[in-house]
Amino acid sequence: MKVIDSYYVLSNGVKLPKIGFGTWQIKPGEDTVRAVSLALKNGYRHIDTAEGYYNEASVGQAIKESGLKREDVFITSKLESHIKTYEGAKEYFLESLKKLDTDYLDLFIIHAPWPWSEMGKDCETGNVLAYKAMEELYHEGKVRAIGVSNFEVKHLQNILDHCEVVPHVNQIGYFIGLDQSKTIRFCKEHNIFVEAYSPLGIGYLLSNETVKEVAKKYSVSPAQICLRYLLQKGVAPLPKSVHEQRMIQNTQVDFVIKDEDMLVLDQVKGDPRRWE
Ligand code: A2P
Repeated sequence: MKVIDSYYVLSNGVKLPKIGFGTWQIKPGEDTVRAVSLALKNGYRHIDTAEGYYNEASVGQAIKESGLKREDVFITSKLESHIKTYEGAKEYFLESLKKLDTDYLDLFIIHAPWPWSEMGKDCETGNVLAYKAMEELYHEGKVRAIGVSNFEVKHLQNILDHCEVVPHVNQIGYFIGLDQSKTIRFCKEHNIFVEAYSPLGIGYLLSNETVKEVAKKYSVSPAQICLRYLLQKGVAPLPKSVHEQRMIQNTQVDFVIKDEDMLVLDQVKGDPRRWE
């Protein structure tokens, strides 16, 4: 079976498509509707959105218009990073459902351990309060899996110490060159599944010389090497593209990178991302 049609299984038995479609930085409205429609047409069955992307309504519209059954599409959304209360988590979850025009989510995660405007701030109490609301939503069947995003070991340990449900997922920035070994090791030990956002380093990794060389060796594109590398690490990449040919290319990863070349890629170090 092709990778794009295959699933990982989360700790609670829920099936997660091996490759998801990332929608960060796709403009709400026509752009998102078009991109998500094309992604669904080309076999993606996991759409990753967030309250903070402001495109949930457009994601919902594209899914409805696709004609696919709701249960055949895995939808993830994320609690706004500044919402760190029990009531806030419940309220924003309902807003997400409304915007996505659905009565349940497949995965709902805390977007970050701190508000984006206050990165590094200690919000441990607030994270527990928000997570407890998510545990209730999970037990009520309104969401099939819950988790976190951008959580490091100390943030994860805080949830394990004070909550009941071990997060099913931790979605982190992860790509060739970015050292996430500590977080990934901890997640593996606790059966927390890792999803990789920015798997192409938001595009900047594609011009890396080592990645390009390995791509040439396998007669594939640098993007395909980046995605296949992550799949062989056992995580779920969430590539974003607004171009259909690239979306399709990013699903064509049914080849195997040899161990010796995985080691070569492991030697790449650094974070090439720029946000200007
Ligand atoms: P675009 O949306 O214009 O196609 P990431 O998934 O790491 O966030 O990377 C997304 C970036 O990489 C976007 O700028 C996207 O551009 C670009 N991109 C996605 N897939 C490919 C591909 N197969 N080849 C080249 N660039 C790609």
